[in-house]
Amino acid sequence: MTAAANPVAEGLVLRPFEDADAPALVEAYRDETLRRFTRTPVDDEEQAAHWLGQQREGRAAGTRYSFAVLDAGGLVGNVVLKRGTPGGESAEVGYWTAGPARGRGVAPRAVEALTAWAFAAFAEDGLRRIDLLHEGDNHASCRVAEKSGYAFAEILPAFPPYPLDGHRHSRKRLDGSERGSSE
Ligand SMILES: CC(C)(COP(=O)(O)OP(=O)(O)OC[C@H]1O[C@@H](n2cnc3c(N)ncnc32)[C@H](O)[C@@H]1OP(=O)(O)O)[C@@H](O)C(=O)NCCC(=O)NCCS
Repeated sequence: MTAAANPVAEGLVLRPFEDADAPALVEAYRDETLRRFTRTPVDDEEQAAHWLGQQREGRAAGTRYSFAVLDAGGLVGNVVLKRGTPGGESAEVGYWTAGPARGRGVAPRAVEALTAWAFAAFAEDGLRRIDLLHEGDNHASCRVAEKSGYAFAEILPAFPPYPLDGHRHSRKRLDGSERGSSE
């Protein structure tokens, strides 16, 4: 199976980030909830340029595949596949939705699309499982996991900088040998 260049989501366009996204990134990161649940703030154009550079470098290194999520041409979110080890059997999905676009299922649609794309794109490269981690008080993120087919897998004990227990949710690649397996 040949993967599309970018994930395909209902009613949304996903594509790699571009330099021109910098102002919309800065605007999205003004949101307190986004800052609370993400690690690297983007406060100005300089930090946006750094952030965009990290996405480019990660893609080139095969460790980080982030996609701008667009609705009617405007940036409404970010979804990313993080492969700590290129060729490794597990990866992690991350995401955010800009404040004004929340509550419309943007993140679940983007996560679903990224998941299908990733399992197709890296089918020959060993990817078998994608994890979704969230902090224990991030109920909206837990709902995204449930809605995009990431079953609860385990509680993650609190550790710095995370003061609360978290959740790991997980999805496995569905092929002949794994269909029906549980996790
Ligand atoms: C978590 C997040 C990505 C959800 O994105 P989304 O596109 O709004 O997803 P959904 O529309 O499916 O909504 C998910 C839940 O958010 C809550 N929600 C609904 N409308 C909302 C709104 N206007 N504002 C905030 N939260 C809302 C609801 O609990 C909803 O669950 P429900 O469908 O059972 O009612 C988004 O809240 C966000 O970006 N948060 C900050 C960053 C973050 O937490 N990223 C994930 C780190 S693990």
